[in-house]
Amino acid sequence: MNVRGEHYRTVWLERRTVRMINQPLIPHSFEIVDLKDYRETAEAIRNMVVRGAGAIGATAGFGMAQAALQAPAEDPVAFIEKAAEVLRATRPTAQDLFYAIDRVLAAALAGPRERIAEIAVAEANAIADEGAERGEAIGKAGAELIKDGCRILTHCNAGWLAFVDWGSALSPIYVARRQGKRLFVFADETRPRCQGARLTAWELAGEGVPHAVIADNAAGHYMRAGEIDMVIVGSDRIAANGDVANKIGTYEKAVLAKENGIPFYVAAPTSTIDMNCPTGDDIPIEERSEDEVLYMFGKDDEGKMTRARIAPAETHARNPAFDVTPAKYVTAIITENGIVEPGETGTERE
Ligand code: MRU
Repeated sequence: MNVRGEHYRTVWLERRTVRMINQPLIPHSFEIVDLKDYRETAEAIRNMVVRGAGAIGATAGFGMAQAALQAPAEDPVAFIEKAAEVLRATRPTAQDLFYAIDRVLAAALAGPRERIAEIAVAEANAIADEGAERGEAIGKAGAELIKDGCRILTHCNAGWLAFVDWGSALSPIYVARRQGKRLFVFADETRPRCQGARLTAWELAGEGVPHAVIADNAAGHYMRAGEIDMVIVGSDRIAANGDVANKIGTYEKAVLAKENGIPFYVAAPTSTIDMNCPTGDDIPIEERSEDEVLYMFGKDDEGKMTRARIAPAETHARNPAFDVTPAKYVTAIITENGIVEPGETGTERE
C-alpha cells in the first residue's frame, strides 16, 4: 500500500538485510528498521517491531533465509535448524509464523547443500508474495459482503501492516472503498497495545476511509444502538473445527454481535488454518509482559515518545494477547479461495 505516495511492503529482504516498517512508532513517525542477521530479526518479532500474523510469518521466512545466507558452508543444516528453533520461540499463537519457518526449512533441506541459501531466499520471497496476493484476493471476496453505506466494526489491526500488503480484515474495506461504496469503520482501540487506535486508524486515514476509534468497551453500545451493520476481524490461528484465535477482546465482540443479530466475519488466508489443532482449546495463547497493561506508550506534547504508568506502583497485571472465539459465533470465514462456513475448515461445526 502507499505511504505518502510511495508503495511500501511491511517487510522485505534486501541482500542479507531484513528491512521492515517500525510499527511501534506509527502513527507518530514512519521509519524503516534494518536487521542484519536472523537473531536480530527474531528479536524484532518478539518485541513486536513487526507484528500481525502474516507479517511475522513473512518476517520469520526472511529470518530463515538470513540464516541460510549466514550458515557455515561445512555444516549449514545445523545452523539453519538452530535458527528455526530461535524463530519458533518468538511468539506462540500465530500459525503463519510456523507455516513460514517450516516451509523455508523444508525447501532448504530438500535441495543440494551448495544451493541452500539461494533456495531459502526464493522460498521466503515466495511466501511474502503469496501473502500479499492472498490479502488482495481476500479483499475481493470480502468486498462482496459489504453493501453501500455499510458501518463496520473491526478489532486490533488486520490491515496491510499485519501482513506483507493489503491485509485480511481491512482488505475487503479497501476494495469496497475503491469500488466507490460509502463506508464507515469503527476501529476498536484494542488495549493494551492499541493496534486499533494506532495502526488501523493510520491505515484507514491513509486510504481515505471514514472512521472513528472507539474505546474497546464502547462496541456493545453502538451495536445495541443499531449503528453497526457487520463485524470483520482477522485471525492468528483457526482450529480444524472453525474456532478462531484472534487479538484479546475478539471473543466478547463476537458474543455481542450474535446477541444483537449482527454478522461476524473472520478474514484470514488459508495458511492461518491449523489442522493439528482440533479445537480452539488446543491453540497456545501468548501471555505478554504486564508492562503492556500497566503503561501507555505515545507521544507527549513536546513531541517526545514516552510511556506513562496508569496503575498503582504495587499493582500487577495479567496480559493474555489473544482469545478464542468458538465457531458458533462466526458467520463465515473470508479466505483467498472465497467465503466458507467455519465448519468447512476441518471437522464438524460445534
Ligand atoms: O499481537 P499482534 O499485534 O501480532 O496480533 C495480531 C493481530 O494483529 C490480530 O490478532 C489480528 O486481528 C489478526 S492477525 C492479522
